[in-house]
Amino acid sequence: MSFKILGTGSCLPQRTVTNEELSEFLDTSDEWIQQRVGIRQRRVCTTETTTDLAAGAAIAALEMSGTKPEELDMILCATVSADNAAPSLACSVQNKIEASCPAMDINAGCTGFIYMLETAAGFFAMGYKKILIIGAERLTRCADWTDRSTAVIFADGAGAMVLGPGNSYISSKLVAKGGDAVLRIPSFHGMSPFYEVEPREPYIYMNGQEVFKFAVNAMCTDLADAVEKAGLTMDEIAWVIPHQANARIIDFAVKKFGIKPERCLKNIEITGNTSAASVAILADELVRSGRLKDGDYIAMAAFGAGLTSAACVIKWEA
Ligand code: UT7
Repeated sequence: MSFKILGTGSCLPQRTVTNEELSEFLDTSDEWIQQRVGIRQRRVCTTETTTDLAAGAAIAALEMSGTKPEELDMILCATVSADNAAPSLACSVQNKIEASCPAMDINAGCTGFIYMLETAAGFFAMGYKKILIIGAERLTRCADWTDRSTAVIFADGAGAMVLGPGNSYISSKLVAKGGDAVLRIPSFHGMSPFYEVEPREPYIYMNGQEVFKFAVNAMCTDLADAVEKAGLTMDEIAWVIPHQANARIIDFAVKKFGIKPERCLKNIEITGNTSAASVAILADELVRSGRLKDGDYIAMAAFGAGLTSAACVIKWEA
């Protein structure tokens, strides 16, 4: 027994920021961003908190699933940009939607949503009945807005699912290669009069090329392994939902596996990289598009800070 997806939801901030707007204060161009990353515009918080986005996605997923907040047994949130280090984002959402169940966060960088699916599967094996899972980020809070190599990439958004008992979670592969040399978001250094180490800048640091190499390899290897573990071939996968980090990484996997482009979901052009929220936002788009058929196999793949990566196969149970 694992779980089935009872409902999905997503929530993006109101404000759209185009590449042209970024070019007004950064040495960049619409042409460079579109060609090298595949982003045309992204959503950016102006007044919304990470909790607002997470709760918005949660409410949409609860509505679709016909679940009341008081019926939930657990709330999990995957994030690297919660409003507070404590309380957790999950506890802030629990308070906002007036649920009463336990709640906690998971941090596996941009891979967090798939790590969270695995965690949820464990809870269902223990007998939990209704779990709300949310990937939510306000990464624009962590960006160095003078650094063109990261500021143009990261964005804000949230995606959620309500899960109930079922047999949808078919296979998975989780990877971690720990280290902060190529991708990190340093946390608040503190004001201790005794601490003698110079603080690091509290912004996203990314060695793009190194992460790119890791990402291409991880996505292809993890996808192939998860599909094989499911006893399937790539031809039997109806939908691929890849983390939206760079359109070129997605296109590489599409070409390598001969995936029909229309079967590999992409929204990076208008949402940017929303880290742990990205696969959840796409999953909600897919569910709401009405294109999913009972029994369709969905493969998800993600990679990011940790370094971490993961892939899983889910069978859609209507
Ligand atoms: O979600 C978490 C996981 N993250 C990822 O998977 C990201 C993986 N990495 C990438 O997507 C790409 O490496 C980036 C999009 C971050 C960068 O693209 P790239 O093709 O690897 O560029 P680069 O870092 O090799 O830089 C090439 C040039 C450099 O100029 P010079 O040294 O050749 O003169 C950069 O300074 O592009 C320059 N550059 C820019 N130019 C215009 C870097 N950022 C920009 C920019 N606008 N925004």
